[in-house]
Amino acid sequence: MSAPPRIPERHAGDRQPVTIPSLRDRRLLGEPIVMVTAYDHPSAQVAEAAGVDVVLVGDSAAMTVLGYDSTVPITVDELLMLTAAVRRGLRTPLLVGDLPFGSYEASDEQAIRTAQRFVKEAGCDAVKLEGGGTSVDRARAIARAGIPVMGHVGLTPQTATALGGYRAQGRSTARALEVANDAIALQEAGCFAIVFEAIPAEVADALMEHMEIPVIGIGAGAATDGQVLVFHDLLGIHDGMRPRFAKRYADLRSEMVAAVAEYADDVRARRYPGPEHTYSIAAEELQRFREQLG
Ligand code: KIV
Repeated sequence: MSAPPRIPERHAGDRQPVTIPSLRDRRLLGEPIVMVTAYDHPSAQVAEAAGVDVVLVGDSAAMTVLGYDSTVPITVDELLMLTAAVRRGLRTPLLVGDLPFGSYEASDEQAIRTAQRFVKEAGCDAVKLEGGGTSVDRARAIARAGIPVMGHVGLTPQTATALGGYRAQGRSTARALEVANDAIALQEAGCFAIVFEAIPAEVADALMEHMEIPVIGIGAGAATDGQVLVFHDLLGIHDGMRPRFAKRYADLRSEMVAAVAEYADDVRARRYPGPEHTYSIAAEELQRFREQLG
């Protein structure tokens, strides 16, 4: 048994919920937007308490919490369950759900239906999809159906194989132009914001002059309107591949391993549980219990 989960209560003086217009204002005022991923109730509560602006339940959950090798296998149902748990831990940040690979590409109808599930079943404020090309049409269809949609260009992990692996994009004139064209097309299609992932800082900087919506960078330098990091990279929770842009602010995995190892030592040495961890019974009740037990 552990403590029951609690939805953070709102108090007078608390931050106002982050909205799409407020993100636009932040961009105009030049105030950086802070985005982080979260995948469950405790990580959502951490994001809430830390005062971040946008929480993304990324399909990176495939690797960070479900143990898959890439983002490709994660299903809509798996991501919906994680997203609903995050929703229950958030009050203030804008909640964005990632549409998984294979859940939106086939048609506008498929894209709208999946986006609606993220809003209706998991309580998302917005959804995110990856890439340009047909994704531009899907983004337009989702936005027209009344669901705010975030784009994602540069390194798009769902199609990393086609991009030659998990590597920086836009390092040649031709590829930088493709990234730029995708970003502008997604903006024109009605995306309320966009992620630039793993592109040279100079390319992002030049492209910012053409962007009118908030741009959130990850491995795209400092010129974007905000930054996003994967929760497990930021906190050092997993020991998988770490991209060069993933600044580590803690090494929680080492602390977690050390704590569990200390618990194991305590159990084996009979140091745990101690008297302070046990329940008591009145002497006469115990006496009667022993007698009746025979
Ligand atoms: O899935 C994810 O975590 C993402 C971020 C890296 C933007 O898409």
